[in-house]
Amino acid sequence: MRDYAIVSEELTKIYRDKHREIVAVDHVSIKIKYGEFFGLLGPNGAGKTTFAKMLATLLIPDEGEAWIEGYSILKDPIEVRKRIGWMMGETGGRALYWRLSGWDNLMFFASILNVPRKIAEKRARTLLRFLELEDAVDKLVMNYSTGMRIKLMLIRSLLHNPDVLILDEPTLGLDVESAIKVRNFLRRLADELGKTILFTSHNMYEVEQLCDRIAVINKGRIIFIGTPREIKEKVEEIKIVEIIVASTDSDLKEILNKLESLSVINTVLFHEREAKNIKIRVSVNDYYTAIPEIARVLRGYKVESISRALPTLEEAFLKIAGVKIEETETRRFGRRRL
Ligand SMILES: Nc1ncnc2c1ncn2[C@@H]1O[C@H](COP(=O)(O)OP(=O)(O)OP(=O)(O)O)[C@@H](O)[C@H]1O
Ligand SMILES: [Mg+2]
Repeated sequence: MRDYAIVSEELTKIYRDKHREIVAVDHVSIKIKYGEFFGLLGPNGAGKTTFAKMLATLLIPDEGEAWIEGYSILKDPIEVRKRIGWMMGETGGRALYWRLSGWDNLMFFASILNVPRKIAEKRARTLLRFLELEDAVDKLVMNYSTGMRIKLMLIRSLLHNPDVLILDEPTLGLDVESAIKVRNFLRRLADELGKTILFTSHNMYEVEQLCDRIAVINKGRIIFIGTPREIKEKVEEIKIVEIIVASTDSDLKEILNKLESLSVINTVLFHEREAKNIKIRVSVNDYYTAIPEIARVLRGYKVESISRALPTLEEAFLKIAGVKIEETETRRFGRRRL
């Protein structure tokens, strides 16, 4: 077990109430190497948070075991806690004291973590500088933006200099710029300080960018483990055509109806407005028959382009998960798409 930073074996969590049982995490076994940046990717309700919480000793499993740097989460939770920093879906910053300043929060948590004051101060200052939060440190946390709270929670999770970080959706709710900063920061923690990071996300883009390896989880089960590239390769047979039409929203329904009526199109996957254009992605069986048919049915509209496109990791994921492609649209992923 000591050969790996994180090991889980058949880890299982079942939530029970009077009426039913939900197997939130279903016999999950993974091994994460020292220094690895590992992404756990899955849709809503897949079991990401539950899994992360069990590893962080915040939730007791019903079955199975896990070890952090060789220490059992069941038998040695205190040793485990010394070695991990965690942040759990706390994008609102509930785990901070809102009536204290950023600095007082950090010093309070450092004392709970038994970090000597002098060391805590030095680490806090370095991390604050790194995340560009120095100027805000004397402000009350209640006056922080979401991004500032997330950064403060990240700093909090690092005060005892843990080897392993367990981060549940650390970039959720961040604006683009803050998300980039946080991602860069995490990547540097792995590259320069050799931290092992388990990171959960809905966001294909960041997982693809950041992680050395990805596990895809769906309905509590790991359905794939590999590099971002391997996931893409696995689904190379997905054929996507991207259509860009200069059009108004009032035409959208009509255009979608026309596309859906074509037998050469499997499914309309996605559409969104981009300035004056509407972008639509469809899956097809064969480019050579589909593209001319699409062009034909859209005659009369100002078609900017009809082109082959690579599947996004999200489309890849849905394929791997065997999720019916009809369910793919905004309903599953909401605004959290790429
Ligand atoms: N405290 C709880 N009591 C009962 N059921 C729960 C509880 N927490 C989670 N669940 C259920 O367990 C399953 C897994 O939830 P979990 O929060 O781990 O998923 P997730 O992948 O983190 O989802 P999200 O992307 O929405 O954060 C879901 O079906 C969820 O409804
Ligand atoms: Mg979650």
